[in-house]
Amino acid sequence: EPAATGASAPLFDQLPQKFQDSKVIEVGSDIAYAPMEYYDTDGETVLGFDKELTLALSEQLGVTFDWNNATFDGLITQLKSGKIDVAISGMSDTKDRQSEVDFVDYYVAGAMILVKKGNPEGIQSLADLCGKTIAVQRGTTQEGYAQEQSAKCDEPIQILSFDRETEAMLQVKNGRAVAGMQDYPVATYNARTSGGGNDFEVVGDQIQAGPLGIAVGKDDTGLRDALQKALQAIIDDGTYAALIKKYETP
Ligand code: ARG
Repeated sequence: EPAATGASAPLFDQLPQKFQDSKVIEVGSDIAYAPMEYYDTDGETVLGFDKELTLALSEQLGVTFDWNNATFDGLITQLKSGKIDVAISGMSDTKDRQSEVDFVDYYVAGAMILVKKGNPEGIQSLADLCGKTIAVQRGTTQEGYAQEQSAKCDEPIQILSFDRETEAMLQVKNGRAVAGMQDYPVATYNARTSGGGNDFEVVGDQIQAGPLGIAVGKDDTGLRDALQKALQAIIDDGTYAALIKKYETP
């Protein structure tokens, strides 16, 4: 990875002193959510859209983003306790979370329902999941959509929640759940790649499209504003568009 260039980077002086001194921003992420963030086959190198986003931001800010693996459901707690400086994990910027953290939005995605290839249960929407068993990741917006839908069903949805999205997917694969639900880029990636494209398919429309953001502590407005400026800089110079193109054109 390129070494942080420090003070010669265009937006280094925008960072709070603390980061100018340490030259590192500690990232918390659940690194099992391809193609947003995932480990290479060496089990060490972090890959994905969010990772490459931080490499581009790093060139603007002159500091390194140090990626730390964590459970998704614990990220906001880690952020509030200062264990990490930012959470970058395909995290949706929601009203609920805004009461605890600030966001720098960098992408827009809705959720998609993922089922076994061939769609044996004929699922097309959240309402079709009433009375059925589904598998989602704990603490995600997708878990929330399932709970909201279930409350409107005659027969509730049996919701199995897992700390890792990969565990939830396994339930769909082995038939213990009829569906999973993930952010659009992740669901389409799984459908395209798992079992050589033979395990899953996405069904229906995107659910509740909304921003994904970099979460920053509420008391860290200096860092938030520096990240916002760095994001604007990579939008203005075309780096961001190239990244989108790479990930949206498989
Ligand atoms: N966008 C969804 C949310 O914020 C799911 C994100 C899951 N991210 C992950 N790295 N597992 O709740």
